[in-house]
Amino acid sequence: MTDFVSLPFYDLLHENGHVPGIREKLPPLLTGVRRSILEIGAGTGLITTSLADWTPAEIFALEPSAGMRGVLLSRLTARPELLKRVTVLPCDALSVDLAEPIEAMVMINVMYALEPDYRRRLWPVLAAHLEPGGLLVFTWRDGGPPAPRPLEELESRQVGRHTYTVLSEILESEGEACRARYLYRITDGDRVVDEEEIVGHAYRPVRETIEGELTGAGFVRADAPDGLLAWRLA
Ligand SMILES: C[S@@+](CC[C@H](N)C(=O)[O-])C[C@H]1O[C@@H](n2cnc3c(N)ncnc32)[C@H](O)[C@@H]1O
Repeated sequence: MTDFVSLPFYDLLHENGHVPGIREKLPPLLTGVRRSILEIGAGTGLITTSLADWTPAEIFALEPSAGMRGVLLSRLTARPELLKRVTVLPCDALSVDLAEPIEAMVMINVMYALEPDYRRRLWPVLAAHLEPGGLLVFTWRDGGPPAPRPLEELESRQVGRHTYTVLSEILESEGEACRARYLYRITDGDRVVDEEEIVGHAYRPVRETIEGELTGAGFVRADAPDGLLAWRLA
């Protein structure tokens, strides 16, 4: 499991990464949502607790990784008033099973991890669990996958005497997929305390592809700010 390499770095590097932008752009899209939200790929809960702060809705935080769920549950434990309102679903998105139709679904920085065939099978499953007119919002960057490039530093944070750094390299890029290498490095001055590597695929479909898939599954495009796409079930 690559999770155990990247997990200790997750909150450190993402709290300052995509999260501030999402916390600014997402709340207006959720105006009026009161009953239920499914968060797909909730990760460590960086967005989950914000969803609970922005809306009175019951939240279903779906997260397949046990490591990520551990941090998410820790975060919820620190907010005991949320423990009655947030249910953590230990499964992947295609296996979602809910008793009632959901009012809104949110998927932040997850799509890159979904293989194209998995993603195509996912939209009808989400449509089946969404109420008529229900909202689906996800993060979006157009233009296909990045071109191959050498190793570069993505982000670095100080923790006591140690520096936590993530570096990435794009090894190859073809169609909507790229193969990337990540280095998770902990240093104490010039001394490397620990360094581990992950190599994996990421997927970035172009806009026409995603529009075709979602329209085919019964969704209609709604307005959203840059960096997000919003759809409503027809
Ligand atoms: C980059 S993290 C984003 C976490 C969180 N949404 C955030 O913005 O901080 C991607 C998450 O998607 C989850 N994920 C990957 N494949 C998934 C799948 N098939 N179904 C649901 N979640 C998935 C991973 O376990 C991981 O927690």
